[in-house]
Amino acid sequence: MGIPFGRLGPVFARFGHRTYPRWAWPLFEQEVRGWPPAARVLDLGGGTGVLAARARAIRSDLELVVLDPAAGMLRHVPPGLRTVTGRAEALPFAPDHLNAVLLGEALHHFQDAGAALAEIARVLRPGGKLWIYEFDPTRGIGRWVYWGERLLGEPAAFFTPQALQGRLAALGFTGDFVERDGRYVLSARLAGETPREAARPA
Ligand SMILES: C[S@@+](CC[C@H](N)C(=O)[O-])C[C@H]1O[C@@H](n2cnc3c(N)ncnc32)[C@H](O)[C@@H]1O
Repeated sequence: MGIPFGRLGPVFARFGHRTYPRWAWPLFEQEVRGWPPAARVLDLGGGTGVLAARARAIRSDLELVVLDPAAGMLRHVPPGLRTVTGRAEALPFAPDHLNAVLLGEALHHFQDAGAALAEIARVLRPGGKLWIYEFDPTRGIGRWVYWGERLLGEPAAFFTPQALQGRLAALGFTGDFVERDGRYVLSARLAGETPREAARPA
């Protein structure tokens, strides 16, 4: 079972942006404007590229990639955005390749969220940014989404923002979140020097 994302491309292409609350967009814009020039950015579990398209509308200098396992979603990514078929648990990028990763309503769908977060830390450059939009399974609308996804047979790998902050801290990130009615935006930065870097021979 599970949500048949491969068949939902047209729906997400048309209505995907509406699933984000209005208050999240200024936070998104602030994030996008903070990236370095010509930043390499991954929209992970990006589906039809809702976030990548929005980032491109804010800044035209970005190198954007939308990665998703569902070809039926990627087919509806707007022209001009690069697409990659793949999974978050095994990202097809070299270490330190990316400046930023976007995760919009995606983390809770991953089979192995822990492996995905470790992969994000691997492919981000030191100082790289991670922007996450998610549901808090203990509050407001997040409780309903949690139970709905469990009934649908989805992985339902939901974290409270505090728990996600803790998981990210263990990987070398520091970050803050804004939460409203069971939905939250978490913006985190990978440390300048990761344990992986420190272990590298000079
Ligand atoms: C609710 S959709 C969100 C899509 C997009 N981020 C948006 O905001 O419209 C969740 C997406 O996660 C993708 N997904 C599921 N498992 C995944 C995995 N292991 N790795 C990467 N993406 C995955 C699905 O195919 C789907 O496109």
